Amino acid sequence: MREKLTFLGIETSCDETAASVVREKANGTGEILSNVVSSQIEEHKEFGGVVPEIAARAHVEKIEFIIKKALKESNLNFNNIDGISATAGPGLIVCLTVGLNTGKAIAGSLEKPFVAVNHLEGHALSPKINNKIKFPYLLLLISGGHTQFLKVNGVNNYERLGTTIDDALGEAFDKTAKLLGIEFPGGPKLEEWAKKGDKNYFKLPKPILKKGGCNMSFAGLKTAVLRISKEIKKEKEKYHLAASFQKTINEILHTKTIVAMDNFLKNKKNKTNTFVIAGGVASNLSIRQNLIKLSKEKNFIPVFPPVNLCSDNAAMIAWAGIERYKNNLIDNLEFPSKARWPLDSSAPFLKGPGLKF
Ligand code: KG4
Ligand code: ZN
Repeated sequence: MREKLTFLGIETSCDETAASVVREKANGTGEILSNVVSSQIEEHKEFGGVVPEIAARAHVEKIEFIIKKALKESNLNFNNIDGISATAGPGLIVCLTVGLNTGKAIAGSLEKPFVAVNHLEGHALSPKINNKIKFPYLLLLISGGHTQFLKVNGVNNYERLGTTIDDALGEAFDKTAKLLGIEFPGGPKLEEWAKKGDKNYFKLPKPILKKGGCNMSFAGLKTAVLRISKEIKKEKEKYHLAASFQKTINEILHTKTIVAMDNFLKNKKNKTNTFVIAGGVASNLSIRQNLIKLSKEKNFIPVFPPVNLCSDNAAMIAWAGIERYKNNLIDNLEFPSKARWPLDSSAPFLKGPGLKF
């Protein structure tokens, strides 16, 4: 029988410096032997968002320590590792380059296989670390950088059903929170505020709700929040705005998920339908409840990876490395960093002015 693979994964695509060691289990899922994430929230707080050069410098300063810590916590050394995988895109080039080059250097010097991983594929395959899920499954990825419905057909085989045409959902939460005076990243606090407010107090727009398939738009919402936030007089109204914003997001996700589910079911043969919801915004409890209820109504099994696998981490990169390696998808050390790297290369680029549905 083939030995179970063990991979070291490295992630530096944005503002998390992360390394992890993951081993295959006999039942096809994965065992996370270590999962070290160093977040840079403090470094970027005063700027209200991620500053690429500051992020890159922090990666350079931390990467060696983080990798050593991940190995130490796994109780393994480099000799026990079968391969190295690192995120090659999409993301900030100055950041990606740090983790990618470190991964290549380790792989090259140890003469071990190297796998370049698409960060989105990391998210897409992450539910398989803890769950025995069969392909195809429907994935909603909602993070600070990405908002997409994907049909996950298999490793390296994705169909994008819908995407945001402007802001990512986490970005919409963070921008709204900033307008309300909440510091970056504002999503979690905005959720707290929403609990104290009246969700029906303000009426906010739902752009392209009834058109554009399951593509989404959140920029108009931010403009409306900006206008209302200037008129707010009472403190309590801030909570109402947070609640109204969250309710509007839930309505958009509800409508668009139905479209995505209907698309997913076309030409599909297997009986069980799985709906995976991943990314930092998936930790929002009201969004979870909304999508769990909808899944039940539409006969889908909802799966939420645990929070430490939802937000950016390297365990998902190590796991994607294992899955790709098993499919003979091994890369050479010339693989470049890619700022833009769609999972579904046939899907159109849906961003920028002049887009109409
Ligand atoms: O996946 P993630 O950790 O990092 C990437 O963006 O890749 O997602 C972070 C995003 C931030 O925009 C943050 O505000 C948002 O997820 N977020 C939330 C909540 N927790 C995190 N948004 C709404 N409600 C939450 N509870
Ligand atoms: Zn991510």
